[in-house]
Amino acid sequence: MSWSHLVRADAPHGNAPVAVAPSLLACDFARLENEIKGVERAGAEFLHLDVMDGHFVNNITFGPVLVEAIRRVSTVALDTHLMIERPDRYIDAFLDAGADILTIHIETSADARRDLRAIRDRGHKSGLALNPDRAFPDVIKAVPEADLLLVMSVFPGFGGQSFIESTLRTIEDAARFREREGLSYAIEIDGGINPQTARRAREAGVDILVAGTAIFRTPDYATAIDAIRGT
Ligand code: DX5
Ligand code: ZN
Repeated sequence: MSWSHLVRADAPHGNAPVAVAPSLLACDFARLENEIKGVERAGAEFLHLDVMDGHFVNNITFGPVLVEAIRRVSTVALDTHLMIERPDRYIDAFLDAGADILTIHIETSADARRDLRAIRDRGHKSGLALNPDRAFPDVIKAVPEADLLLVMSVFPGFGGQSFIESTLRTIEDAARFREREGLSYAIEIDGGINPQTARRAREAGVDILVAGTAIFRTPDYATAIDAIRGT
């Protein structure tokens, strides 16, 4: 279980080999609290929060104000994915708001090792993300400072896109390097995950599966989460 170091000590969680992180981007924001409780009851280990700034990606979502509100109604760890320019400027604001895991992109950070260390120094979990057109060697220098490696399997910005197969190679390389170097980051995949692509990602060695559409656009969250988890 290479994801257990990322859960909140006080949160209920099972011992599944892979964890599921529903992406709230696909939920009904008018019923946010119900949606959160729904996926928590259905067994989600994390909530995945997509922060977009309209610069690094062509979409705008939400900032620390909403993270703080989500914190108040949720029990599981908030897996906060920053798709923003200059993430270093916002680390304190998102950690103050209650992000448990804070993930920055290698594409937007001027100094990824420094930013990851800044997150860890505050006692939170650090995450490093890379886009589908990158390869594992692009993050090799910074990844020892990360508690989580987030492999994007679509170009970030929107939910509901198709899974990019070539990113499975990044998962395999990340798992092999972790083993060889004795590191312990969790490997997460994000974008186009459904029961079929989830199986491929699990076979490649992923620890945490992010899914928006394949959970929130179905009538039964527990069935959807179990199918993605492969149980
Ligand atoms: C994409 C986001 C994803 C997205 C996934 O920019 O980072 O987290 O919500 O959505 P699905 O699962 O619908 O591809
Ligand atoms: Zn995401």
